[in-house]
Amino acid sequence: MRQLKPNVYAVGAIDFDTRLFDRLIPLPDGTSYNSYLIRGSEKTALLDTVDPTKVEVLLSNLAEFGVERIDYVIAHHAEQDHSGSLPDVLLQFADAKVVANPKCKGMLMDLLGIEEDRFITVKDGQTLSLGDKTLQFIYLPWVHWPETMGTYLQEDKILFPCDFFGAHLATSSLFVDDQSGVYESAKRYYAEIMMPFRRQINNNLAKLEPLEIEIIAPSHGPVHNRPAFIVNAYKDWASDVVKNEVVVPYVSMHGSTAKMASYFVDALIKRGITVKQFELSTVDIGKLAMSLVDAATIVIGSPTVLVGPHPCAGYAAFLANALRPKTKFVSIIGSFGWGSKMVEQLTSMLPNLKAEILEPVITKGYPKDNDFIALDKLADEILAKHKGLGITN
Ligand code: FEO
Repeated sequence: MRQLKPNVYAVGAIDFDTRLFDRLIPLPDGTSYNSYLIRGSEKTALLDTVDPTKVEVLLSNLAEFGVERIDYVIAHHAEQDHSGSLPDVLLQFADAKVVANPKCKGMLMDLLGIEEDRFITVKDGQTLSLGDKTLQFIYLPWVHWPETMGTYLQEDKILFPCDFFGAHLATSSLFVDDQSGVYESAKRYYAEIMMPFRRQINNNLAKLEPLEIEIIAPSHGPVHNRPAFIVNAYKDWASDVVKNEVVVPYVSMHGSTAKMASYFVDALIKRGITVKQFELSTVDIGKLAMSLVDAATIVIGSPTVLVGPHPCAGYAAFLANALRPKTKFVSIIGSFGWGSKMVEQLTSMLPNLKAEILEPVITKGYPKDNDFIALDKLADEILAKHKGLGITN
């Protein structure tokens, strides 16, 4: 139990040990499931619960603080890492009502079997008084589910935006004390969770603009007591601005594609372009996702396997397509032995990218002089395209 402001406490769980979220997302630095308790002069509210694996931590934090009554449990988001302990909390605090928007209510009934009579539904902008503290509910759709909502604690100027502005980072510090470390974790989180909803993120950033915010207390990672830091980072990531960067995710079986990737990366560096290269059979997909936040161009490298792309390259294309980065240009380099539909298959996996496809470079067997010339030409074309965007030095 740690205090954000008088009568506003963090009561959630720090998870230092977990290394995979949703059986998909690597968590190199663990995570936290933040839950907050607000004690008003008349009523007490709990904002979100914790992942069900950590319910005992939440209940023991509440017990340690002598919380005997909870009037409202605010459910900002139905995903189980925040809602999964709701049934236990409702069992223990039999008079507590769940405060949610109608969409979230439906999802909580579907996912957790919570009875309808436990709910109070709230509209966008509606307030709820705890006595000397007032909660204002702000719908923040699609960060990153359709029902996501935040709460603004008016008197203390604290925004609780749930996953929005969060970071998968387990730390014993309540507040951000290492901005560069938190920046890295928050950007990784944005790339994996929020980037597909860039347009809605910009809408939500604009919606929050009129609020005077002193503290942002998200549902993962440390609390921001200098909120401009994370708000400005989000504005940058979600903007239309791309950087003079090329992401080169590649995989190779017998060295042909690796040779091409290595030559091509050198060619880009010689032209003053920043390159982020990832070997796909060993890649941390979070790092790859982060690199997609800013890059103007992606060039996927793949050999041909059974006529199509190597499955690792297919996975990278699937991921890029799902994450919908603001990438402007895409190309493919790679190799084949006797026949290939690798380029057609890979490009067909990228319909969500609003990017121009630049002429791929595919070699038969090990790359030769004419292939290196073609790679130089592709590097020249990328430089020219980046110049056209005005993003080169
Ligand atoms: Fe942290 Fe979307 O749950």
